[in-house]
Order: sequence, then C-alpha cells, then structure tokens
Amino acid sequence: MSKIHAAITAVHAYVPDYILTNQELETMVDTNDEWITTRTGIKERRILKGEGLGTSDMAVPAVNGLLKKRGIGAEEIDLIIFCTTTPDFVFPATANILADKIGAKNAWGYDLSAACSGFLFGLATGSQFIESGKYKKVLIIGGDKMSSITNYQDRATCIIFGDGCGAVLLEPNDEGNGIIDSILKSDGSGVPYLHQKAGGSVKPASHETVDAREHYAYQEGQAVFKFAVTNMADVAAEVMERNNLKAEDIAWLVPHQANKRIIDATANRTGVSADKVIINIEKYGNTTNATIPLCLWEWETKFKKGDNLILAAFGGGFTWGSIYLKWAY
Ligand code: UT7
Repeated sequence: MSKIHAAITAVHAYVPDYILTNQELETMVDTNDEWITTRTGIKERRILKGEGLGTSDMAVPAVNGLLKKRGIGAEEIDLIIFCTTTPDFVFPATANILADKIGAKNAWGYDLSAACSGFLFGLATGSQFIESGKYKKVLIIGGDKMSSITNYQDRATCIIFGDGCGAVLLEPNDEGNGIIDSILKSDGSGVPYLHQKAGGSVKPASHETVDAREHYAYQEGQAVFKFAVTNMADVAAEVMERNNLKAEDIAWLVPHQANKRIIDATANRTGVSADKVIINIEKYGNTTNATIPLCLWEWETKFKKGDNLILAAFGGGFTWGSIYLKWAY
C-alpha cells in the first residue's frame, strides 16, 4: 500500500479592505516611501478596522471561501489548528471561537504560537493527524491582526506589519503528492530581539506597561535580519539537499514575506530563479502567520499537480523552518 501523505486540497484567504500606504505612514512617523521600498520592498499593507473585530473575523471569510471551493460543509472538519500571534483573547483559543463562528461542530482545535513560522509548524503538526489515519479533514489557519500589536509611533516596526488570514485544508493523498518533508527549528535565546514585552504572565498588563507602550511588538531589526537571512536560506537549502532536489526541480519557492532582501537571499542560496519565487510583500507587508497562505492563495491558479514547492519561514522566538510539498491538484 502506498504511503498516505497530507495534501493541501483547497486554499483561500481574506485581507481587509483598508489599505495603509507608505504615503499615509509618512504622515504618521518620520519615514518615506523610498526608505521603506528599498529596505523592505513594502508599498502597502491591509488593516482590519472596526471596533470589536479580531483575527477570527478574518478567518471566517477565509474558511467559508475555502469550504465553498472544496464543496464541503463545516461539520465535516475534524480538527482546526489556528496559527496566530494575535489570538482574539489570551484564552480561550481562537480555533474554538472560529469553530463556533463557522459551524464546525464536529471539530476540536487549538492555537499554535510560533510567530512567523507558525503556519509551517501548523502544516507539519496537522499533517501527522492525516498520515496516522486519525483524521480526514484538517484545517490549518494562518492569521494575524498585527495592527493590534503594532506601535504606530515606532517607525522601525510600524512600516513592516499588516493584517490578513489564509487557510488550507489537509486531506489524505495516496498518489505521492502532499507534504513530503519538513525541517523545523526553534531557539528561545532569540527572545530579546523580537517579542512583546508585556501582557504575558511575566509582566501582566498594568498602567505602567501601557504607559511604556510595552504591549506592542518590539524588534531589534538588524539583529533579527542577520539571523533570518542565514537561517531561512540555510534551512530551505537543507530540505532541498535532503530530498535530492536541484534548483531546476523546484516549481515554486514560497518564502515568508518579512523583507524583500531576506527573500532574495533565500532565492540566491537555493539557486531558484526569480520567476519561481512567490513575492507579494509589496501589497501586504509582513502578516506574520498569514504570509505563506496568502502566497498560496494568490498563486493557486498557477500551480500544477505534482509541482515541487519549497516553503520557508523565519520568525520571533526564534523559530524557523522549511517544508517540501508536492502540489496535489
Ligand atoms: O518576520 C519576522 C522576522 N522579522 C524580520 O525578518 C525583520 C528583519 N529586519 C528587517 O527587515 C530590517 O532590519 C528592518 C526593515 C526592520 C530595518 O531595516 P534596516 O536596514 O536593518 O535598518 P536599521 O534598523 O539598521 O536602521 C537604519 C537607519 C537608522 O538610522 P541611522 O541610525 O542610520 O541614522 C534608523 O533609525 O534607518 C533608520 N530607520 C528609518 N528611516 C526611515 C529605521 N526605520 C526607518 C523608517 N524610515 N521607517
């Protein structure tokens, strides 16, 4: 009997309507379009506006669109893994809230926290439930309302982040397509360079933490850049080598969209030519857990059954990793 792989059988996403351009940011902090474009590749990002709306509210249209495309009902979903750094609440899990909102009444779920690598960690984790034969339909969501933890007085971070949410469905595949291999890494010594200082159990919210603006993403950009640029490129190259894949065997490289310069370094290291590298950072910025599913969503119609895709990410934690998958439809 051939091995069962977990294959992506549908993808959909949602980005909010509001577009925050570099020009608008110029009116908010001391920055300019030229600096942002040359240093990051970002031109605009989407922002979820509206009182009382959270990450799950972007996941609802993403998942409903996915279910419609696949022609199945929410009650058929077995498990929801919600990869996010900006959950609706500290608890309960956003996966629970989403299950209720979409009517996935036979599913259980949990949130997965691995910053920008979360979606890859989610794919690797969710695929185990499919490969083991335990479940037939697993939803992996990657979504973040980064605007809820972005300090719009800090020009070094507010130009980077945007909001969005993507979702994929994992189902069993016996044709040799699906998730073939993954290399995932984490290193907790990276905390000082990229984290949210307050709001957790170490430093619960207080007047002081709010006054000190410690409930926002804090990043030492240059330090993170150095780790990201080598680790993301190396891990993508490693997963290719381990599977005897040359650059010409790769149909698409799908990198986390944090900085165009990091994407270019990953492309160079793997040898994958520019026309096979998926880039949409100019439109959405860094949507953390959503970058890779947003790429899959936008390029879905270009993928062919059997295409070799290499996914790669680096994020806070530090976390990083790469997944080799064969597109299944
Ligand atoms: O997704 C999770 C992982 N995160 C990442 O991978 C992000 C990695 N880091 C980066 O992408 C880059 O470090 C940033 C885009 C965040 C910053 O770019 P950089 O080239 O590393 O800039 P820098 O922090 O070294 O700053 C260079 C200069 C500084 O001025 P001085 O000290 O040279 O006078 C900054 O104050 O640019 C200044 N600067 C800005 N200038 C205009 C910083 N932000 C801005 C800005 N507009 N928005």
